[in-house]
Amino acid sequence: MVKPKDIIFTEALESVLVSIWGGTKPHLDNNLIKKTRNALVDIREIYQFKGNYTKKYPSTINFRYPKNRAGYLAAFGQRHAYLPYFHLKRIAYENAKAIPKPESNKGELIVTVLGAGAAMELYGLVRYFNEESTRLKKLNLILVDKIDDWKPNRHTVFDKLMKGTFPKLNIIPHDIDADLTKDCIRAFSDYYQILVKTDVLLIYNVMNEIITKHSNMVWQNINYILKNAEKQLLVMLAEPAAHNATPRISWLKTQLAQRSTMILNVEQEEFNFNNDPFLVAFEETGSGLNDKLFAHYIDGKKPELKSSIKRTHFACMVEPNSPISFEQVNKQLAVLNLKRVQRGLFAKRLKEEKTFWDSFPNWDK
Ligand SMILES: C[S@@+](CC[C@H](N)C(=O)[O-])C[C@H]1O[C@@H](n2cnc3c(N)ncnc32)[C@H](O)[C@@H]1O
Repeated sequence: MVKPKDIIFTEALESVLVSIWGGTKPHLDNNLIKKTRNALVDIREIYQFKGNYTKKYPSTINFRYPKNRAGYLAAFGQRHAYLPYFHLKRIAYENAKAIPKPESNKGELIVTVLGAGAAMELYGLVRYFNEESTRLKKLNLILVDKIDDWKPNRHTVFDKLMKGTFPKLNIIPHDIDADLTKDCIRAFSDYYQILVKTDVLLIYNVMNEIITKHSNMVWQNINYILKNAEKQLLVMLAEPAAHNATPRISWLKTQLAQRSTMILNVEQEEFNFNNDPFLVAFEETGSGLNDKLFAHYIDGKKPELKSSIKRTHFACMVEPNSPISFEQVNKQLAVLNLKRVQRGLFAKRLKEEKTFWDSFPNWDK
């Protein structure tokens, strides 16, 4: 096994947090630790109660504010970074052919990330491919986000975390400022040559930020990537499994199931990060990020360090220009529907938020 350079993940994450706050020192000082902890607690509450009391807990989070970006990464950064590793393992177990092979393209992969944010999830993806040997040498990235404030933070992730851990990896980022709820085709077409060669499309923790009334436009944008794909494309989706998030995600699963070969559709799974190199734990040095954020009481508060995450996840494979058979579509939709019927709450939830199908009943006719 080729061991990546041993950099402590949380050390790199700390530099990202410093950069979000506009700090100049290598570490969070006491004032920034306090601000990050408060932001982390607020973000957790927003996700817990999202949309329930709209003034205090909005139904979408504005990531223009540094406190929301810092709180988000402090709360989820490490666990989101590790998740794709386990997701890819599961996909490979179900259908090894769905996993792209960088070695058949001189060690290169093209990955498109929707709602990229700080793009932490690329860490787990690279770790998966380079677990046994340095298979992945060049990572071409198309990073789509509506909030350009993430860009400098994302580039700190590449410089400190990715280059720090995988020094030989050549990372070529292309940042696209685009809002998926608006027509992105013009922005996408500027990157057409590379976009159509995408090997992996990552949709991680973004759909739950988009209310379902926008699903028609979001689908047009996603479908532009799928229908123009020039090679086999693996779509990986992972989102919060929370009650309120479900309608925002299920319409996309249904659309994807009609357009691709479904590999995985898991309603909810808890991923545990209890072992190296995917261990979420206190550093117990007193100066580690997790120690600073979670180990001590400050102002009577001590947020809990969480070493697992619950996600709904899905994966499918899109073949260029080869629509799947009618029978296969029906079979895949039946699998999706069966899971919904089994969960009695689903019908109630659909009524609570207007769905894609309410707005566009004839979309697939
Ligand atoms: C919760 S973060 C997820 C970041 C990263 N993918 C992860 O898993 O950690 C959601 C990201 O989606 C972006 N986003 C939300 N709505 C969007 C939209 N309509 N179009 C493009 N990006 C959007 C946000 O700006 C934010 O960066």
